[in-house]
Amino acid sequence: MNLPLIEKVEQAHTQRFGAAPAIIAYAPGRVEILGNHTDYNEGFVLSAAIDLGIAMAISSAPSSACVLRAVDVNEEITVELPVKAPVEKPLWANYVLGVVNKLSGAGRIEKGFFATFAGDIPLGAGLSSSAALEVAAALGMGALANIHPSKLDLAKLCQAAENEFTGARCGLLDQISSLYGEPESLVFTDFRSLEVESVPLGADVCFLVANTRVKHSLVESEYNERRAQCEQAAAFFASTLNHPVKALRDVSVEEWKRWASRMDPVTARRAAHIVEENYRVLEARRLLAAGNLKGFGELMFQSHHSSRVNFENSCRELDALADAARNLPAVLGARLSGGGFGGSVVLMVHPAEAAAVGREITELYRAVFGHPCDVRVVKPSAGARLV
Ligand code: GLA
Repeated sequence: MNLPLIEKVEQAHTQRFGAAPAIIAYAPGRVEILGNHTDYNEGFVLSAAIDLGIAMAISSAPSSACVLRAVDVNEEITVELPVKAPVEKPLWANYVLGVVNKLSGAGRIEKGFFATFAGDIPLGAGLSSSAALEVAAALGMGALANIHPSKLDLAKLCQAAENEFTGARCGLLDQISSLYGEPESLVFTDFRSLEVESVPLGADVCFLVANTRVKHSLVESEYNERRAQCEQAAAFFASTLNHPVKALRDVSVEEWKRWASRMDPVTARRAAHIVEENYRVLEARRLLAAGNLKGFGELMFQSHHSSRVNFENSCRELDALADAARNLPAVLGARLSGGGFGGSVVLMVHPAEAAAVGREITELYRAVFGHPCDVRVVKPSAGARLV
């Protein structure tokens, strides 16, 4: 955990509200290592909480007024309880207000509060700063109101908050990763049973995140459209196969091959991405346990290729990074991480090669786009907690 960040939030809170916070909660961002858009298809994902996050300081207010302060953008909003609907601006407030609304359903938030937050997750990098904000708010405000949901209930509550207060039909991946992360391990999640397992990584692996700093417009509507296309594909298989299909998780690669030509081509490609990606995650977990990092990395390259041609959630900048990574012998694997349409590529390398690969990738990116991408090492880290 980043101690200067905690101190920054504590000081800012005390300065603004005249008293030290009662509670400080911290929640990390996440990196998706393998398993793209598989969460809402009830499939599998390997992810990690990272060493970048959001800290929120909270104290009780004397009335039903709630004051939210975002230190990094120097903005503030005051709302009255009960919180029933999103606000038009600032947009960041809706992640917190959604949580307040949902927590009220889980117990009682009767008294107003003062909340101050800051973070070090680059925005728009595909590292889930929004989930970190939700989780920090839910943990901290829950504790203040003496509501202590389980990790899984917290994750679901935050997802519902985001779905309803921002309109993004996100799955549970970001919130689960932020809550269940463990140092030096990946989080393996089965999004049907919602069982979460920690998979040790070993000392030979290191992850770099190369942020394009590109965020293409319509990301949210594209995301929701992909989700709808997956549902359409699942409905096709449900009416075609002679076993129950609740989600694309229930369709095998062989079944996809057998029936794809009867589907509309776009829906078939979307389905291919999910069906094969689920297979890749299970295979990658097996390869990791066997110490086969090269095999694992190859699946990451394949995942990116599938995003590019099947799911069409990549973009020029992400493809340029994935191609550059493919040509560097020191890179074991690379792929886009998260929703796509901009954001970051995650690269798996041996720790000793990280600095050199970072420099090379930055230069290769600069050669194509005239400006560098932003490369940093991210460390799989512990999940959200009260400080
Ligand atoms: C975003 C969503 C997640 C997940 C990923 C893609 O991060 O919030 O629920 O769907 O995209 O895997």
